Amino acid sequence: MSAADNQGYRDACSTMQVPASGIYFTTLGAQEVMLSRDKAGDIVAVSGFCTHSMGRLEGGTVEGDVIICPHHGARFNFRTGRAMTSCPNLATFDVKIVGHRVLVRLGG
Ligand code: FES
Repeated sequence: MSAADNQGYRDACSTMQVPASGIYFTTLGAQEVMLSRDKAGDIVAVSGFCTHSMGRLEGGTVEGDVIICPHHGARFNFRTGRAMTSCPNLATFDVKIVGHRVLVRLGG
């Protein structure tokens, strides 16, 4: 699958690329996406752009469920998108698994 399907889902990666703990970063169009797993092991997707000033979160320090933005230190739960500092929460995206592929629908 190379483009969005008729429900707007886009192919992001293989299920095997998303670690049991930690983050798999990818880019869908202009959107940076962080993929990880929730406590049940299901794959979840949130924006990889920091809501402080849209810096890329890739390269940030990971401590438990938290990623620390490498630009100015904002903190977010990378599984839920919840901000731990005064920034807005990260956008979350719908995920669907088809076979071994992870499909993500970006917000519109
Ligand atoms: S861009 Fe992330 S804290 Fe400033």
